[in-house]
Amino acid sequence: MRVPDAQSVLLTADQIQSRVREMAAEIRRDYAPFDELHLVAVLKGAFMFLSDLARAMTGPVSLDFIAVASYAKGTTTSGEVRLLKDLDSGLQGRHVIIVEDIVDTGLTLTYLQDILRAREPKSLRTACLLSKPSRRQVDVKVDYIGFAIDDRFVVGYGLDYSEQYRNLREIVVLS
Ligand code: IMP
Repeated sequence: MRVPDAQSVLLTADQIQSRVREMAAEIRRDYAPFDELHLVAVLKGAFMFLSDLARAMTGPVSLDFIAVASYAKGTTTSGEVRLLKDLDSGLQGRHVIIVEDIVDTGLTLTYLQDILRAREPKSLRTACLLSKPSRRQVDVKVDYIGFAIDDRFVVGYGLDYSEQYRNLREIVVLS
């Protein structure tokens, strides 16, 4: 595995940590202090974002995980999405927040929002650490965005290329 050089760092660990703390506060402000927020993280990419976001969140929080395969051709999505691992519990009457690493074309998130909305949560919102607005193919609503970035393939902080780099504390551009 290649170790990224300093120039390829797009977001440092400190920048990520402080933005994630802000996002946790923004999210909590939109609900009553004692509302339980049910965070649904999308595996595997969102695992690090989820763990920092959940720790920064005040008030009651519960967690669940879902896994989807977005069929990729190289570094781009083909648009076909398949459910690999479903949630452990139902969503009816709960305040659900989808926690996703990155929204690119928007196809994966649209699929997730559709299947989760059908389970009748009390509310459904989405928090994405990263967004590549210039790549959007569908108009998907993302309520909380950490950073909008240019059309570059990035890895680290949960994001991978062929299962590598997920463990980096920063987000780097893969050249
Ligand atoms: P979308 O369906 O095109 O929005 O793609 C969403 C998924 O593609 C994300 O959950 C990631 O798994 C993957 N993806 C998109 N862009 C990147 C990137 O720059 N680095 C790593 N994975 C990416």
